[in-house]
Amino acid sequence: MDQFLIEGGKRLYGTVRAQSAKNSVLPLLAACILAEGRVTIREVPPITDVFCMAQILRELGAEVRFEGDCVLVDGSDATEHTVSAVLTKELRSSVFMLGSLLARFRRAAIAYPGGCDIGLRPVDLHLSALAHMGVKTQERDGYIVCTCDDLRGADIGLDFPSVGATENVILAAVLAKGETVLSGAAREPEIVDLQNFLNAMGARVRGAGTDTVVIEGVKRLHGVEYTPVKDRIEAGTYLIACAATGGEIEVEGVEPAHLGFLFHKLRENSCKIHIKNDKIRITSAGRLRCNRKIETMPFPGFPTDLQAQTVALNAAAEGCALIVENLFETRFRYVPELKKMGADIEVNGRSAVVRGQPRLHGASLVCKDLRGGAALVIAALAAEGTSEVVGLAHVDRGYADFEGKLRALGAEVKRVRIR
Ligand code: EPZ
Repeated sequence: MDQFLIEGGKRLYGTVRAQSAKNSVLPLLAACILAEGRVTIREVPPITDVFCMAQILRELGAEVRFEGDCVLVDGSDATEHTVSAVLTKELRSSVFMLGSLLARFRRAAIAYPGGCDIGLRPVDLHLSALAHMGVKTQERDGYIVCTCDDLRGADIGLDFPSVGATENVILAAVLAKGETVLSGAAREPEIVDLQNFLNAMGARVRGAGTDTVVIEGVKRLHGVEYTPVKDRIEAGTYLIACAATGGEIEVEGVEPAHLGFLFHKLRENSCKIHIKNDKIRITSAGRLRCNRKIETMPFPGFPTDLQAQTVALNAAAEGCALIVENLFETRFRYVPELKKMGADIEVNGRSAVVRGQPRLHGASLVCKDLRGGAALVIAALAAEGTSEVVGLAHVDRGYADFEGKLRALGAEVKRVRIR
């Protein structure tokens, strides 16, 4: 098991290049099973969620290999349509394998993904959407088993703009008979990336990025070489880290339009943000003002995946902030760890009242989920003194070379093996 040793109080300076988006690469890997022939995805981040998804594809019988920062997938010989409990437990978001397996095999079975550290994570929206396309679902021995004689295009409305459900419908519909119109779709940039990827394979998808996506089913999809969109959440994490420690960094590669709401909030903290093409420069004096209120919302609102990092920032700012988490039921599990550092945060259901402190102090911290873990690292970088951060398996799921990128910006962080 590893831990980070972090010496806080170092301002960050320099440039960091964003990785490809974890939440795009995962559905793109699921889509590889739809192609007749080989798919190459370039600049794939070496993170454990990607390795887990690669293992899922191998278990389905696809040939998967990594060459440099590319992953090559050939699903032609895949015959299996079941995703095992072991892997679904590892990777909750494997639920969008349902759509691609149904499109390929007209049947799919995945172990019930179940809850996780940030909420119940139900799949009712996925299943009711797929039912419109003729998919029958049974729950058997902890598995969701989906079958359909014919996968038919349909008019579908999502009661909530679920990212995963939107992706599942698109993945199922690209090889279905006829046209699918999905209303109430999620608008995240990763869904636009999935549309672009599938269209490069010969699909006919349009409207991704709006709340209505139209998919015209085609007979077959061919292989492709593709470079995914950059990771707006990873980029936002580094911007917030610099805001918290003070300093000046430039994040390169990410589309600024994917982070609009964050810039507004960081300026509210009294950071300076300068944008030029795909370069985002942030300057922070280190002692900031609290945000008055932040409510997480589906894109283009404030992203839930940056909620924890923003609370860590406000915990050592001037004033008081109200943070409302509208997407997940229990996404404040990192708060007790921040309190060990002297943070004054009161959680009540989906809201947290953060009373900024002059300075947090280092402590022994335990990561409980991916973005909560990133928040603890940010708090430790800005705090006075030394912190130990364990449970790095959580942050390794989504941040490639986290300590290397932070060290390159001047942070004092070391990864040490503890047993
Ligand atoms: C995706 O999860 C992301 N994961 C999450 O990022 C992100 O937080 C989330 O979208 C919201 O943006 C990937 O893309 C791999 P949802 P997903 O379906 O698809 C409820 C990270 O840190 N819901 O949009 O699972 C659900 O409970 C991860 O990178 C239902 O009620 O999110 C939640 O409250 C964490 N029924 C809300 O919708 C359903 O059938 C949003 O979930 C599906 C979802």
